[in-house]
Amino acid sequence: MAKLKVGILISGRGSNMAALIEAAKEADYPAEIALVVSNVADAPGLAIARREGVPTVVISHRGQPDRETFDRAVSAELERHGVSLVVLAGFLRIFSPWFPTRWADRLINIHPSLLPCFKGLHVQQQALDAGVRLSGCTVHFVIPDLDAGPIIAQAAVPVLADDTAETLSARILRQEHRLYPLVVRWFAEGRIGLAAGRVAIKGVRPDAALLFSPAP
Ligand code: GAR
Repeated sequence: MAKLKVGILISGRGSNMAALIEAAKEADYPAEIALVVSNVADAPGLAIARREGVPTVVISHRGQPDRETFDRAVSAELERHGVSLVVLAGFLRIFSPWFPTRWADRLINIHPSLLPCFKGLHVQQQALDAGVRLSGCTVHFVIPDLDAGPIIAQAAVPVLADDTAETLSARILRQEHRLYPLVVRWFAEGRIGLAAGRVAIKGVRPDAALLFSPAP
């Protein structure tokens, strides 16, 4: 069967992008990475994508008259590469409302907190300041509101007493690298349903282990 063509948008390190490229190397993985777009010309993730033979394009947001002009340029590249699912992976650019509307239900993001807690920037520090015992990451559909949109899947990690934003971030990132390829697989397999703003996933086990923090 034809593989789902995925476009990944990055601005920086690209470790989630790398995890997706790695997953897509598996013969039975139902998606292929058709294009990586960066708005930052020297984003380290671009070098990884090029090394892996994935087509890349840089579209700078600088010098564009407004957000929508930039969004339309990105969209045109995605269309040119036949992309059916757009995956944000550390893409640090806020869209105009046009882009999430154009790619409605086919645009997903990963965020390093258990949404709807801790939106925006410095989210690990927000989690530490709030004293939560569990944090994690969320994959969600993107809508015009920032860090909102129907939640598809989450992975939780404990927050430890001596955590810094860096140690917590690293623990969450390891789970991001597991969760994102899984969600893209589910999407490609047509298992993610969206109705009335809520997501249902076909064929997942309802009995996953509970995570206590601290452990009892
Ligand atoms: C990831 O932790 C991702 O969840 C976060 O940026 C990092 C990108 O890392 N995204 C956001 O905070 C979006 N609001 P990566 O470039 O190594 O994938």
